[in-house]
Amino acid sequence: MIPESFIQELLNRVDVVDVIDKSVPLKKAGANYSACCPFHNEKSPSFTVSPTKQFYHCFGCGAHGTAIGFVMEYQGLSFVEAIQDLAKMAGLTVPQETYDPAKPAPKVVVGLQESLQQAANYYKAELKKSPRAIDYLKARGLSGQVAAKFQIGYAPAAWQNLQSVFPHYESEALTIAGLVVENDQGRRYDRFRDRIMFPIHDQKGQVIGFGGRVINPEDTPKYYNSPETPLFQKGHELYGLFLARRAIRDAGRALVVEGYMDVVALAQFGIEYAVAALGTATTPFHITKLMRQTDEVVFCFDGDNAGLTAAWRAAMNALPALTDGLKLSFLFLPKEHDPDSYVREFGKEKFELEIKAAMPLSQFILKHLSENNSLQSQEDRVRFLNEAEPIMQQITAPRSAMFLRKKVAELAQLSPEEMQSLLKLPNLNKTPVNARPKLTRTTLSMHKRYCLMLLMQPALALREDLVWAEGRADEDVLLQQTIEICLIHPHSKPVVIMRELEGRVEAKVLAELERELNILDETLDLVQELEGARRQLYDVYTQRKEDLLLAQISEKPLSTLTENERTLLKSLGNKRSQNRA
Ligand code: UTP
Ligand code: MN
Repeated sequence: MIPESFIQELLNRVDVVDVIDKSVPLKKAGANYSACCPFHNEKSPSFTVSPTKQFYHCFGCGAHGTAIGFVMEYQGLSFVEAIQDLAKMAGLTVPQETYDPAKPAPKVVVGLQESLQQAANYYKAELKKSPRAIDYLKARGLSGQVAAKFQIGYAPAAWQNLQSVFPHYESEALTIAGLVVENDQGRRYDRFRDRIMFPIHDQKGQVIGFGGRVINPEDTPKYYNSPETPLFQKGHELYGLFLARRAIRDAGRALVVEGYMDVVALAQFGIEYAVAALGTATTPFHITKLMRQTDEVVFCFDGDNAGLTAAWRAAMNALPALTDGLKLSFLFLPKEHDPDSYVREFGKEKFELEIKAAMPLSQFILKHLSENNSLQSQEDRVRFLNEAEPIMQQITAPRSAMFLRKKVAELAQLSPEEMQSLLKLPNLNKTPVNARPKLTRTTLSMHKRYCLMLLMQPALALREDLVWAEGRADEDVLLQQTIEICLIHPHSKPVVIMRELEGRVEAKVLAELERELNILDETLDLVQELEGARRQLYDVYTQRKEDLLLAQISEKPLSTLTENERTLLKSLGNKRSQNRA
């Protein structure tokens, strides 16, 4: 856990005005600062930042929060990531404290990144010494140039090669970085042995992990990757992105493929804008990450069935991140090919022609939905609608959504109005055309986010939350109801709590929560995220209460104030001027 005192200290050190001004240039407007809101589309500024309260607020869309909240929303980070980001800005190191006294505190380990970089250098040097590894790469058609560009290396076959690189082979940093494995008997050995090594870089170009491929075809698994570490989360990183950034900008598009070798081979043949998800499905985080660099993303998966499945999952994961400005398409290679073999056989030009002819997302969706469904009988069309509904529910980009709805209605042989009345679909007029794409996990309001975290771990609901979570707005009610139900059912599954919530809160909100549950990033630290959301809410409620009190008191003539009210006025006033200092 990140100690509360640290978060306080952090908020004292950073100024919300500086934090926001870095991304959204602010103009002074009286005591506050203002700008056009980055969270919705508007022509005149209704977004204000208060230096005294250290809060931002948008009168247009209701976005509201502290510096932490802003970084989460704007950059699409989780609570913990936002704290880390701000800490870096303030020159602070995030400490950890134990949450569960039974578990030892997770130590902050120094030297992870350095260790990984040293290992990468070592593997690269070893490649030069290994004719066998060089021959393997040559046989696969890799040029020395492209191998150097991707810093490809070789991990020799012995068990403890890294001992020659790290004098402290027993160091904890090596296990945490995923370089060394310790077995049940306490014996330590290198994770990667006799493998071609592909270093994985983060967006700053630092090595954060590795993928290792066997040379000997009998060895398994074919690829072995670094485990999830504090530096490396598979669901967030894309192989090759750092090297591809420039090419992505120049080409105006990114190509997402499945494998390390695909990225490398494509680069060798002049298609340098390819990246790969690391042996996992493409996540919404991957997509949002790419969307920050380009508005055209082409997925090209292997021509086999696994490739098709991966393409469909990528499509489904992309839905919440869709905007009308974004073009997503899917390139299906012939069954026997992957991008590596295809570009080698047919070359760059032919590959790029295929890219240009790739199937747009909407067409892919419709094709998939009408596969194995002739739409002939009424039952066929009902099934088609049932399958189309959750997909359409997730698309809020108005134009894309509208065209897809029209097509779906046509195929189901309904008028658009009939379909609209039959299905629960988001209201498109409310969504601004150019709304900034956001990560799914942060499109939720603070309230919903907290409820989502509670659904996942109802045992962590606190009765005292009901004391401060006052109010009668829909969001307040959602919060109160969720807490109450969680208190009654502390060990229930999310679905049980959802069922209890039915009828007590709006169906639309429930649907939204359900959708989020399905795509929740499994790498999130739920306990910390819950604490973070609670903290933010608490701040907002406290602020609201203080504002109200101050407003009430300041309406009264000074002479009529009670002793209590005077003290309160003074203490709130002091707090404000402290914040200002
Ligand atoms: P593929 O099996 O399609 O391999 O896996 P590939 O990329 O064509 O590799 P080559 O050409 O045989 O060398 C695609 C990706 O899935 C992950 C890796 O990221 C790989 O690049 N993968 C595959 C694993 O993580 N582990 C495995 O055992 C296999
Ligand atoms: Mn391959």
